[in-house]
Amino acid sequence: MYSDKVMDHFKNPRNVGEIENPDGVGEVGNPVCGDIMKIFLKIENNIITDAKFKTFGCGAAIASSSMATELVRGKTLEEAWDVSNKAVAEALEGLPPIKMHCSVLAEEGIHKAINDYRKRHGLPEWEEKNPHPHDHEEDLTCKHWPPDRFPRSDTPAVSEGYFAAYHREAEDQEKFAETKFNK
Ligand code: FES
Repeated sequence: MYSDKVMDHFKNPRNVGEIENPDGVGEVGNPVCGDIMKIFLKIENNIITDAKFKTFGCGAAIASSSMATELVRGKTLEEAWDVSNKAVAEALEGLPPIKMHCSVLAEEGIHKAINDYRKRHGLPEWEEKNPHPHDHEEDLTCKHWPPDRFPRSDTPAVSEGYFAAYHREAEDQEKFAETKFNK
């Protein structure tokens, strides 16, 4: 089902974690499957000098986050803005059609982080050229947290405790909380 590249980035995700004092942060969630991604950027002279992520989601979402952070490192903000979900999927040597929406999270996370940077600097936010409406009609196989997601916690990134869990039961459903698995 998955390419070797996807499996590599899923099992050995690059750039997992947080950046201290980031210049831009983007949090996105897919309301259909409930997966969550947070992107952190360090930006100097309009260049992304560092990019990290924390993702609580399926293997394709983790691989997409890993690849997206690799792709935007060293790019100008304009170049990084143009890194589409299709580019992420291509760099991963393809994603199954049912999993393409997972790469959308990565594109949106990068865009949100860039716009967060722009907001912090009093600059107008850039507009999405191709907004993704999240009205997926796919038969998503993704199951919601918990306990269905625990089988996912055998990835190295999870075992290092870097994933974020969504507080479904919490009154404030907008809030994220970091959860350490496999302690
Ligand atoms: Fe939700 Fe992949 S991002 S199933």
